[in-house]
Amino acid sequence: MHYDTVIIGAGAAGMMCAAHCGGRVLVVDHAKAPGEKIRISGGGRCNFTNMYAGPENFLSNNPHFAKSALARYTQWDFVALVDRFDIPWHEKTLGQLFCDTSAKDIVAMLRKLMEDAGVDLRLRASVRNIEKLDNHFSFTLEASDKEVKIISDNLIVATGGKSIPKMGATGFAYDVAHQFGIPVTDTSAALVPFTFAENRFAEISGVATPARVTANGTTFEEALLFTHRGLSGPAVLQASSYWHTGDPITVNLIPAADLLGKLRDQRQTAGRKNFTTELSRHLPARLVDHLSTQMDLSGNLADWSDARLTDLTDTLAAWELHPNGTEGYRTAEVTLGGIDTDALSSKTMEAKNVPGLYFIGEAVDVTGWLGGYNFQWAWSSGMAAARAI
Ligand code: FDA
Repeated sequence: MHYDTVIIGAGAAGMMCAAHCGGRVLVVDHAKAPGEKIRISGGGRCNFTNMYAGPENFLSNNPHFAKSALARYTQWDFVALVDRFDIPWHEKTLGQLFCDTSAKDIVAMLRKLMEDAGVDLRLRASVRNIEKLDNHFSFTLEASDKEVKIISDNLIVATGGKSIPKMGATGFAYDVAHQFGIPVTDTSAALVPFTFAENRFAEISGVATPARVTANGTTFEEALLFTHRGLSGPAVLQASSYWHTGDPITVNLIPAADLLGKLRDQRQTAGRKNFTTELSRHLPARLVDHLSTQMDLSGNLADWSDARLTDLTDTLAAWELHPNGTEGYRTAEVTLGGIDTDALSSKTMEAKNVPGLYFIGEAVDVTGWLGGYNFQWAWSSGMAAARAI
């Protein structure tokens, strides 16, 4: 069978590209349904883009690479598409746009666009023995015990990264890259919770508090969540993308309040009260209990000198912690690193040395922050390839 374009991976990037590239198109996926990560994303509501998405919200060995695709298909272009399908949405926080009803609306929209474009979708299917012939690709498509030989002018790899293997994530894109001599940068789990030795925070698991979390000089201010195994919550997930094994992280537990000033004021009016009781007006009580097992918080507020209060607030503003690792690909939202952007055209996503071969979406070494940025990269890179074909 001959196709103009074959896309491997019916995820966000693959479906977006398939719906817009024109010609005779086949999409292959080994999963039983397309867009499974879209379906479960954003707690089932899909944070499908971010109002403020720009190149500065992405990590890559080449920070300039994402600029062209993001500028040529923006968050507002995707919002216009969502509006065209009358899908209701809202801004939750920090420019993050979510479906009002269900992430399934986005999957249905992409399926409908593919259907209208006459795209063939083959699920529970996999691809073997890819070969590059003169000016097209040949490979074996394996589906329901049948093997079919396929010829395609363009081959688009949209199989994502390694996060959540239980959902069918594989390193397939990196294997294809290796086969064609295309370099792949180091990959690691990102947007992922930290773990700590001896389940250090197990006793306060479930406690959430606003925090400023810094890893390697990059700081995020959002919620922090103590978990049985360590730390999670948006501020922590964001920082994890900047963390390397062995690095410390710094947590500021009092990001907004002038805690020192407030405790001094309270000392005037509530000096006879227990210090931990007064501190619990600013931090979750269970966290204060936990801190009191790590540091001396004894006495009444009146017993606390300015110097002692300053020491404590300084400590709470720069709590240095040493994660022993992360939860890894099992729970990571994305994979950091991937197909080396030096090997791809930033305008089209085509491999510079292999005409007709494209890599799009999370497989590429472009990783977004938490907050709708990764889907925006999937839409923008998918459109970049679609327009080039
Ligand atoms: P994606 O992973 O979507 O698709 C790849 C497809 O390829 C899959 O369908 C897979 O089955 C298929 N495949 C893999 N290997 C194959 C093989 N060997 N043969 C055939 N098919 C193969 N981002 C965001 O912006 N907002 C959000 O709300 C969220 N929420 C979120 C929640 C959770 C739990 C996770 C894990 C991730 C998110 N993300 C997110 C990240 C986002 O889901 C991710 O970046 C995009 O789905 C990437 O799109 P891709 O199309 O590149 O890969």
